[in-house]
Amino acid sequence: MTDLIELEIQDVAFGGKGVGRSSGKAVFVPYVIDGETVSARVVREHKKFLEAGLEAVLTTSPHRVEPRCPYFGRCGGCVYQHIEYAHQLALKWRQVKETLRRIGKLENAPMRPFIPSPLEYGYRNRITIHVDDGVIGFFRRESNTLLDIEHCPIASAEVNARLAQLRATHPHNGHYTLRAHDGARIFVQANDGVAASMLDLVERTVAPADLLIDGYCGAGFFAKRLRSRFRKVIGIDWDQHAIAVAQRDVQPNEEYIAGNIETELPHFLLENEGRAVVILDPPAVGLTDTIRHVLLVYPPVQLIYISCNPGTLARDLAAMGRIFRCESITPLDMFPQTAEIEVIVELTPRRSGTR
Ligand SMILES: C[S@@+](CC[C@H](N)C(=O)[O-])C[C@H]1O[C@@H](n2cnc3c(N)ncnc32)[C@H](O)[C@@H]1O
Repeated sequence: MTDLIELEIQDVAFGGKGVGRSSGKAVFVPYVIDGETVSARVVREHKKFLEAGLEAVLTTSPHRVEPRCPYFGRCGGCVYQHIEYAHQLALKWRQVKETLRRIGKLENAPMRPFIPSPLEYGYRNRITIHVDDGVIGFFRRESNTLLDIEHCPIASAEVNARLAQLRATHPHNGHYTLRAHDGARIFVQANDGVAASMLDLVERTVAPADLLIDGYCGAGFFAKRLRSRFRKVIGIDWDQHAIAVAQRDVQPNEEYIAGNIETELPHFLLENEGRAVVILDPPAVGLTDTIRHVLLVYPPVQLIYISCNPGTLARDLAAMGRIFRCESITPLDMFPQTAEIEVIVELTPRRSGTR
């Protein structure tokens, strides 16, 4: 398909593509900004929408800036380097609100301002590099072939130094996670500055209670910071290495369990009905039916849900809306220049102490 069309970009959707309309259909175009008029070439036609590639920007947004990375547009990592940072945050804020309205059925979501990243570039403390037949880099945009990368401007100087070392060794095919901080191969928040803001926010938000259950706790990122605020702290994660790290400096009131949250959470909630604050920081797939169900049947006094996927967050909030009220929704920019968004939601049971 080679149709050339002229479009006015009305918004930028979650994932990073601009949205315009042509012949009554939505058209998605990458690397554009709301308010711009562009010419685009249709590359794929679907029943309800079209996908197009950007040919030329005809009216330029005042928010357009020069991307700092020579691979931008080809690499699958960043989608927003052409947009000034404050406007990236404005777009992502709208994307969260819109996702929560559309999927989460939250009409008046109590949205708080975006917590920005102190660093717009050079913030990533880890990257995963792929190697295939001498090509050392990241996946290309919308492709499973690799793009050779010598330097990644969103990664920290330490990580880029490790990339240079790796390249010098002519590595075998495979995947290599390069980290700024030495340590166990476990999950760590990828942007130190935003991770610190995340901890501060959770600490400010957490309600007084006897027990804290830190679900999907990793090495106890939240539990460690909050342990002095509770009589007892329980962390649950199925990664044995992460639990071993959490156990290294335990205080007498901390307990870490290497297990599946599906089997561990229900009995702790049942035993401590009305006495526990629960933090859940699941991977992108969000919560399972079982977890949502147990939260509905034995609601904690407060639930703090940390999400890295607004879509699954919205699904989970819709499913739990009957029992939990959303007190606040705070997006955080853990990954500037990319489409990713982290969100912290505070929930409380609608009628405290009752089911
Ligand atoms: C987004 S990370 C959060 C880690 C931690 N809260 C932190 O901030 O460092 C998600 C964690 O969930 C764990 N996980 C995923 N599914 C799980 C399950 N079904 N049961 C227990 N842990 C799980 C992973 O091992 C990983 O450590």
